[in-house]
Amino acid sequence: MTNCNKLACRNFLSSLDLSTDEVVQILNLAKNFKTNQLNIELKNKVLGLIFDKSSTRTRVSFQVAMSRLGGSTIDLNPSTSQIGRGEPIKDTARTLSRYCDVLAIRTFNQSDLEEYAKWSSKPIVNALTDLEHPCQALADFMTIKEELGEFKNVVLTFIGDGNNVANSLILCGALLGVEIRIACPKGYEPNPFVISKANEIYKEKNLLKITNDPNIAVLGANVLYTDVWSSMGEEEHKEDKDKDFRGYSIDNNLLKRADKNAIVLHCLPAYRSKEISDEVFESDNSRIFEQAENRMHVQQALLYCLLSK
Ligand code: CP
Ligand code: NVA
Repeated sequence: MTNCNKLACRNFLSSLDLSTDEVVQILNLAKNFKTNQLNIELKNKVLGLIFDKSSTRTRVSFQVAMSRLGGSTIDLNPSTSQIGRGEPIKDTARTLSRYCDVLAIRTFNQSDLEEYAKWSSKPIVNALTDLEHPCQALADFMTIKEELGEFKNVVLTFIGDGNNVANSLILCGALLGVEIRIACPKGYEPNPFVISKANEIYKEKNLLKITNDPNIAVLGANVLYTDVWSSMGEEEHKEDKDKDFRGYSIDNNLLKRADKNAIVLHCLPAYRSKEISDEVFESDNSRIFEQAENRMHVQQALLYCLLSK
């Protein structure tokens, strides 16, 4: 069995918290969980879930993953706990980490997640912040490996906003040596720290490409990926962003320019006719629901790694 013990008791706040070997180990473990080759008992272990933003996939896939491992989950809804009243993170973290064995947190600022990690005595997992969505990236690369067999020579083109999902794809892609092309309107480029870290990981290979031209970015790509134009928390900018992102929609015209066997991914939830056409979403190229399923398998692997001694 893959040995993931090195991850025990660590935080997973960013894709940068894992080494290449650790990502590969998690993906292998996830595959074993998916094919029922592993039956691990984490009886009596408890995962606490704190979601300051809505969630379907992340919340449910964490709950089911934990239950498949024999453990349990507590949904710490901020509006019914003292979190919503504004109890300081350092007090919440010190309290909850005495009850729970691991906490998965979805919030706005990465610095708040880091504050939880600073005060928690148990591992903290990033269940999405404005900066990153590292659990999503693990599921995305698991799906790519399943579909394309290996990462060598894979080109992933992300079309859309260079924020959380794109940032984690860039970092995880760099760890795995995948060429990442980002096509976004001016002003929506990925985080500069993320870009510089990815380039450091890629070393002299020039495998991160950022452009404002989606038509060029998709040429020959093996994976086309998109995300909503307006993320959670950006509702008031929706009209402006809809205008800014016109032309950055994965439709049949863009798909035709990619590799003929290209797969299409979307982290979901999606707005059809905005970042992706309904035709492409429902096409044979789409692996969007395989990708959604894989959230559960990678998180099962991650929880096992964080909780096993
Ligand atoms: N992709 C993703 O994180 O989905 P949810 O917002 O439904 O959790
Ligand atoms: N960028 C999106 C991802 C949702 C999973 C958001 O933050 O709302």
